[in-house]
Amino acid sequence: MQLNLVYFSATYTTQRIVRHIAAQFGTDDIREYDITQSLPNEDILFEKEELLILGAPVYSGRIPAKAREAFLRVKGKGAPAVIVGVYGNREYEDALVEMQDILEANGFQVVSAAAFIAQHSIFSHTAEGRPDEKDMREIAVYGKQLADLFDKVEAPALLSRPEIKGNRPYREVGESHPIPIQVEETCNECGTCIDLCPYEAISEADPRVVDYERCKSCGRCLVVCPLQIRHFSGPFFEQVGQKFAVALAARKEPDVFLPTPS
Ligand SMILES: Cc1cc2nc3c(=O)[nH]c(=O)nc-3n(C[C@H](O)[C@H](O)[C@H](O)COP(=O)(O)O)c2cc1C
Repeated sequence: MQLNLVYFSATYTTQRIVRHIAAQFGTDDIREYDITQSLPNEDILFEKEELLILGAPVYSGRIPAKAREAFLRVKGKGAPAVIVGVYGNREYEDALVEMQDILEANGFQVVSAAAFIAQHSIFSHTAEGRPDEKDMREIAVYGKQLADLFDKVEAPALLSRPEIKGNRPYREVGESHPIPIQVEETCNECGTCIDLCPYEAISEADPRVVDYERCKSCGRCLVVCPLQIRHFSGPFFEQVGQKFAVALAARKEPDVFLPTPS
């Protein structure tokens, strides 16, 4: 079975998780569509015999608006799909059902969904270091379950629709308040952050200057900086960071939704 990975992943944890699931299928026939930086120019079409694994991080209980825009261009012709949401140990709320609705409206048969936990890309002391070894083992188990499922079933159309956790209507996303990014003086203007920012929010002339009309606090410029000298800052960041470190200290575990036996 041809595997297709379509994902948005600003700080690369969704990418890692989606790739780890795909690796359990034991095939090299994997195509990747990383839509983090550029939206597809035209629709991406998948045939019935192809499996789509769609991945996105959770932003405010939903998927990032940019991911939504790109996913609307992914069309299925009855192709089976698996949904992967990745969140920072708070909640994933309506992100999975949002992806389910987009895919079903675009002709996919959603056969499974899962939510995994990764280090919070803003408040990095929350779920720090995740996905860890235990997570990666569980992600592998899920990947193997899926591979077995597709191996055994005569046609994915015979699988029942899974009950996926989430609310409709979805949680409303309020106005975004980007978090100030502080850049240490040792910045050598290498331009990596400028090139890799998904929102083109960093000044070409001076990487210390961020356009907060565009910035979504996705955290990519912090993780790609070769000198690691970009940091979120400010009172909101400090206060919420401290609050999260206490309130979200308990380890959450993955949620997996598989077809119910029919
Ligand atoms: C703007 C923004 C909003 C976020 N909202 C949530 C949230 O509602 N719940 C949660 O648990 N994590 C939230 N996170 C954390 C991310 O879901 C998490 O860090 C994820 O692993 C990022 O995936 P990536 O590495 O593929 O970018 C948010 C992160 C950002 C940048």
